[in-house]
Formats: sequence, structure tokens, C-alpha cells
Amino acid sequence: MGMGSEKQRVLLQDLASNMNSVPSSYIRPISDRPNLEEVESIDASIPLVDLGARDVVQQIGHACKHYGFFQVKNHGIPDEVIKNMMQVSREFFHMPESERLKSYSDDPSKSTRLSTSFNVKSEKVSNWRDFLRLHCYPLQDYLHQWPSSPPSFRDHVGEYCERVRQVALILLQAISQSLGLERDYITGSLGKHGQHMALNYYPPCPQPDLTYGLPAHADPNAITILLQDDVPGLQVVNNGKWVAVNPIPNTFIVNIGDQIQVLSNDRYKSVLHRAVVNSYRERISIPTFYCPSPEAVISPAPQLIDQHHPCQYRSFTYDEYYQKFWNTGLATETCLDWFRASM
Ligand code: OGA
Ligand code: NI
Repeated sequence: MGMGSEKQRVLLQDLASNMNSVPSSYIRPISDRPNLEEVESIDASIPLVDLGARDVVQQIGHACKHYGFFQVKNHGIPDEVIKNMMQVSREFFHMPESERLKSYSDDPSKSTRLSTSFNVKSEKVSNWRDFLRLHCYPLQDYLHQWPSSPPSFRDHVGEYCERVRQVALILLQAISQSLGLERDYITGSLGKHGQHMALNYYPPCPQPDLTYGLPAHADPNAITILLQDDVPGLQVVNNGKWVAVNPIPNTFIVNIGDQIQVLSNDRYKSVLHRAVVNSYRERISIPTFYCPSPEAVISPAPQLIDQHHPCQYRSFTYDEYYQKFWNTGLATETCLDWFRASM
């Protein structure tokens, strides 16, 4: 390209900054738009679980069975750690594009990468999102790959990852117990364990009715622990309707992923959710995806299979599942259907 010609943009953020309509590649077909005026917005849309409560196992069991989503308070992570995590994420996305692009890759198999939309190689319509994806367990295997700017990035994000991992383990133990399994059943089923994280950046969008930050999907991992800033955007399916989950400061949103659905032999469901965008403010959300390690073999817990509950899934490695997830693209038909037991 000659000097002075318009540079090809790979990230959305800088493209979006001087736009007053959504480019056609981001526009959803009419049958697949957010219909934002039909979304319910009630503050108590999903349960709020106090991790310090005596009946926490029952509370979590109830939430998993009836919602697949809940919020947690009293989780033990200091406000300071959360604040630093959010702040350094915002600083990252506010760095000049040339600095951010050092981490860019469109290859989903890379363990540290900045990208845009969902999977630019396989999708037909783009999503209104840039994201930095990091592997974070075991931390020392990945820390050196992470961005080195802003200068406090590795310290703040590393600290946050270790803290969130402790919460993930506590939640997985409570989920195990709520299913009538031994406390360590699920943590013992995830092989060497894995932990990934996304720093999602949703720029303001001139026409939020035409596109998604992320379209409806279920998460492929075991559980997701989401931190979000004070801008609403997450919506979850409840009783067949989309409901908005409005942010509560210093509270995490937890959801069951596909691997818990399989391990529980469908007792608990991995629920569809999506992120919508708005025209007035950028939004940052930071999901932690706690997952099996790639070689772990996942199948329904034998204790949860009986005459009335036939085995719903064949066994598979998490690697096999994860490849399928990234290659299928986000779709309302969840990836789980590929792994159903033949009856
Ligand atoms: C995800 C996700 C929701 C959000 O990244 O899997 O569901 O609010 N994010 O950004
Ligand atoms: Ni998700």
C-alpha cells in the first residue's frame, strides 16, 4: 500500500471510534437481532449467593438446578485486587493500537492472543467486541507470554487469577456436594485443570439493535466466573425469556458450563447467554473460564446414572470438545449435541 492510504484495521475499537453506522459485516439478519425492548430488566433476575452462609451448598444447588446462573458475594477476594484487575484491563485497551497489536493473532489455538469478534476465520457475521485471551494456570507456564504493558499488567492480572482460582475450587466443591457427590469429585475429574480468561472490550456502538457483543452461546468449560464493570450488557435466558443481569459492585456472576452439564448427566444445565452493546459507553467484562486440562476424559458421573437417568453423553477428551467449540462458532444449538450418547 502506498503512503497515506487508509490502513487495514484488524481490531474493532479504533474502527468504531469514528463511525455513525454499523458496517454491513456486523449486521445480523432480522430474525437474529437482540430485540432490546423485549428484554426484562429486574434486579433480582438471578440468585445472589453468600459464600459465607451456612447453607451455601443448598443455595448453590438450587441456583444451579433452576437458573444455571448465580451471583456471589462474600467471596474473599479483596476489593483492591478486583479494582486493579479492572483498571489494568482498561489501561490495556486504552493503549495505542500499535502497542495492542503486538499481541494480535487470529489463531484460536494460541494461548495468549488479542483478537476481535469470536473466530474471524469461521464466522459469517462479526461481533462488536475485541478481546484479549490468556491462559492462566499453571501461572508460571504462561506469565511470560502475557503483555508486558501496561507495566503492572502481569502483577495485577496474575494476582487476580490466583485469587479467582481459589473461588473456582470452592464453587466446584459446593457444586459436587449439591449433586450428592463427594466434595472432590468434580475437581478430581478435570485432569491437571485449566484456567483461561478473557478481557472483553465492547466499544460503544452506533446501532446496538443490529448487532451483538457476543451472540447467544453456552460456555464450553466447567464454570465461568465473570467480573464486569458498571455498564450493563450481559443477558441470560430464564424461563424462555432474555433477562438483563445488572452489575453489582464487587460481585461475580457464575455460570455452569457444558462440562458440568455432562458430569452432572444433565441435572444442571449450561444456560444460553449473550452480551449486547450500547451507544453511549464502552464496556469491559472479564470472564474466567475454569476448565479441564486438554487430555482429561469427561463423562457423566456413574453415581448420577440409573434407570431413571440414562447416560446422556459419550466420553470425550476436553481437547476434542474444545476444538469442536471453536470450529462450530457460536450457535443456539449448543456444542453438547455433538457428544450425546446414541440411544
Ligand atoms: C463470554 C461471555 C459475557 C459478557 O465471554 O463467554 O459470555 O458479559 N461474556 O461479556
Ligand atoms: Ni459466555
